[in-house]
Amino acid sequence: MDAPERLILGIESSCDETAAAVVAGGRRILSSIVSSQIDIHRKYAGVVPELASREHLRKIVPVVREALDQANVALADLDAVAVTQGPGLTGALLVGMTYGKVLALALQKPLIAVNHLEGHVHAVILEAHLAARHPQWPAVCLIVSGGHTVLYHVTSSAHGDASRAKFSYARIGGTRDDAAGEAYDKVARMLALGYPGGPILDQLAAHGDAKAVRFGEPKMKSNPHDFSFSGIKTAMLYHLRRHPELQPEIDARQQALARGECTADALRQLSSPATLDLVASFQRAVIDDLTTRTLAAAQQHNARTILVSGGVAANRELRSGFESEARRHSLDVYFPSRALSTDNAAMIAAAAHPRYLDSDFADASLNAEPNLALA
Ligand code: KG4
Ligand code: ZN
Repeated sequence: MDAPERLILGIESSCDETAAAVVAGGRRILSSIVSSQIDIHRKYAGVVPELASREHLRKIVPVVREALDQANVALADLDAVAVTQGPGLTGALLVGMTYGKVLALALQKPLIAVNHLEGHVHAVILEAHLAARHPQWPAVCLIVSGGHTVLYHVTSSAHGDASRAKFSYARIGGTRDDAAGEAYDKVARMLALGYPGGPILDQLAAHGDAKAVRFGEPKMKSNPHDFSFSGIKTAMLYHLRRHPELQPEIDARQQALARGECTADALRQLSSPATLDLVASFQRAVIDDLTTRTLAAAQQHNARTILVSGGVAANRELRSGFESEARRHSLDVYFPSRALSTDNAAMIAAAAHPRYLDSDFADASLNAEPNLALA
């Protein structure tokens, strides 16, 4: 007879999303609640750590309660509580971690510490399970978000059911400066295209000519699997200086944003074909760089599979680019669903499941690790 599916409550508060989820057996999502703080940070065009901590404090109790209600699970039914230990903003991490710790203590249930980046890997595994697909190992995993752009070589202890297996990671490359999502957000800020930049630029890029403006490819001298996005950001700044005729529309969009008109459609109405071309060219340069370097790393490391996760993995051009390139190289590629690409707690509960099976538990001395590494 199969062992009962373990119910794990996941809690995530590493950046600007307060999230809680109940996942059964590491793969069936019974609930996944995400309370985003985007509206609070929008006027600063970036996450303000003090405001993030304060908002997590306001939201953590109702978000956990809603996750339990939606899953129709009582606290007493839980088998374990999993929390994000890091990496992330210290104050933000502390809120979810402390709440989870106290909950586990009061319920006398095991507490499981999860690395946020490993959570992003498990977001892919959750999706693979839903699609009844089994990733082949080894894999190369690209985690690409607002805070991270990093490549890992991933191997698995077990073949078959990835929701029960522990993974081993080796870091093979990463950004030397900005994360890709950060570059999206900064470029959107220069062009007055709202915050966060990724989803809006993704939509506007579809209306421009990606060959119109050439952004040079960054050369990585010591490690070809590293990334750099600060050059493209500077190139954008110089382009705008050389084209002062774009300034009036930037001002007009800034005013629209100040009035709260921040949808992609509203901003597109205020964008000339030259701006749409610029956005499309920027996106093409970033996506080409991400796909080319990841594919090269996969080939060099004889990977059979590519996993792509993190907020930028929601990007349409990135998904289609990876799919066609992987097909050309006979590799399998896996993404999370778009909802699980950005930060959520289902991925934290899923990542905790193999640890639960291994009795890999944390105790009350657990502390937040803002720079926690995966490898
Ligand atoms: O994983 P995430 O929610 O938070 C971090 O851990 O950083 O990722 C948020 C980042 C933001 O920089 C946002 O602009 C970017 O992901 N993003 C996108 C898209 N959706 C979100 N970037 C490009 N295209 C998208 N569709
Ligand atoms: Zn993340």
